[in-house]
Amino acid sequence: MGIFDPIDLKGKLTLWAGAVAFLMITVIPASSSAGNVEQGEKIATTRKLGNCVACHYLPNVESPGDIGPNLVEAMQEYTMADRDDVAQWIRDAREFNPGTIMPPFGTNKILTPEQIDDLVAYLYTLKK
Ligand code: HEC
Repeated sequence: MGIFDPIDLKGKLTLWAGAVAFLMITVIPASSSAGNVEQGEKIATTRKLGNCVACHYLPNVESPGDIGPNLVEAMQEYTMADRDDVAQWIRDAREFNPGTIMPPFGTNKILTPEQIDDLVAYLYTLKK
């Protein structure tokens, strides 16, 4: 019954595994989903990154495209509770419109999940 008791050790390992799983579920997504607004704007307006402005109006951009909806107007319709929907549009718009012409930035790994979080954070700054 010392500190090397196998049953005791197994119990400790189970506790550790539980603690690690708990951290992965709670802490990591919470911190990564915060998103960096400045990075998000850069991704949205940079041709080699998101290039959202090829199709969408965004402020402070010279001659943005108008194939897609104006994203300042679109964001007025979303509340903070809709964050997942906004992220899903960017990850893969086919969930909402199977025939969409918007590229599936997440599914096709054009953008990382972190870059998508940054975009969502930036888009929410457009809400008036
Ligand atoms: C090739 C054109 C194209 C590109 C590039 C594009 N989109 Fe879109 N997007 C669209 C179209 C078109 C729609 C309207 C819905 C549809 O037709 O599927 C849309 C819809 C959306 C919506 C939903 C708007 C609403 O009215 O609710 C969001 C949010 C969005 N796009 C964000 C982005 C972001 C962020 C990027 C850059 C990472 C991006 N889009 C790049 C074409 C594009």
